[in-house]
Amino acid sequence: MPVISASHEFEVSDLFVNLQPLFGRRLFLKVEGFNFAGSIKLKAAREIVAQAEAAGVLGPGSTLVESSSGNMGVALSVLAANRGFRFLCVTDSRCNEVTRRTMESFGAEVHVVTEPHETEGFLGARIRHVKALLAADDKKVWLNQYLSPGNWMAHYRTTAPAIARQFPDLNVLFIGAGTTGTLMGCARYFRERRPSVRVIAVDSVGSVTFGRPAATRHIPGLGTSVRPPLLDESLVDAAIHVEEADTVRTCRELMRHGFLFGGSTGTAVSGALHWLDEHYGNGTGAPDQVTAVTISPDLGERYMETVYRDDWVRDSIGPEGLTAGVEYADIGSAFTAGLETISG
Ligand SMILES: Cc1ncc(COP(=O)(O)O)c(C=O)c1O
Repeated sequence: MPVISASHEFEVSDLFVNLQPLFGRRLFLKVEGFNFAGSIKLKAAREIVAQAEAAGVLGPGSTLVESSSGNMGVALSVLAANRGFRFLCVTDSRCNEVTRRTMESFGAEVHVVTEPHETEGFLGARIRHVKALLAADDKKVWLNQYLSPGNWMAHYRTTAPAIARQFPDLNVLFIGAGTTGTLMGCARYFRERRPSVRVIAVDSVGSVTFGRPAATRHIPGLGTSVRPPLLDESLVDAAIHVEEADTVRTCRELMRHGFLFGGSTGTAVSGALHWLDEHYGNGTGAPDQVTAVTISPDLGERYMETVYRDDWVRDSIGPEGLTAGVEYADIGSAFTAGLETISG
């Protein structure tokens, strides 16, 4: 039993769900939602803050400002409460109400941007808001999760080794791409230590990360409206793009089996199943000999008013998000900018 004295010290690093009984594939899900911030972003936040404290950039009395779709904001709120700095989160209207209220309960100030930037979407608008806050007050500190090396180093040091330890026979690793911190940390680790492992990025349709056109997205976590500066495409074998309707259907299928996960888990699992079906489906090889892992960044309670609510899904995503079951037969594939892309 671990005994801790600060909330960010607790982490579950070795929990995997075997999805084979649900989906018939040797696909394992690394669960990252069991910590006091409720998501994988606590790891990146811890590393980024530790580096800033060590460099003397951040300390008691400082006000940290960060742009976040929600989970990084909660993670920094947890750390701010423990470490004694103030925290101001700039988010946008896609941030779940409960996530915003959680940050405020921890003592953070939250600014919600309601209008997307013309060409750079909500992320562009959030970054502009952060820059305006910094220009008006030189005591505010922006560690910038989109640029900070701590964002990927956290996963290079913890997430990737935990996967490698558990799966010496790993063939394919599917990683959701938001800021690409998780993707880059894991991709660097496996390129260096286990180059035979194929690293596949999972993104949302409508995200510009891998050079696809921007379109409206409703589920926070994965996807961006500005290409992430941390991304090094040469470390990624392919990128898969998942429709939000597939994300919702997959989340709900997992829930029917007793697993309540956040939206991006549905995206990652859906993308992985599509890719495995395309490459190792019936008649293409030996599906049972391929071992694959993907990551669940958070749990599902924060998505009760969105992904798990029928009227929200019908209005925001469309009725196809409410179809029961997960259908993987209708995959089309294309090649864009040297990266393989699949959308269901
Ligand atoms: C729910 C969720 N999934 C996935 C991600 C993507 O992680 P990363 O920023 O490391 O790419 C995030 C990032 O905020 C997230 O909140």
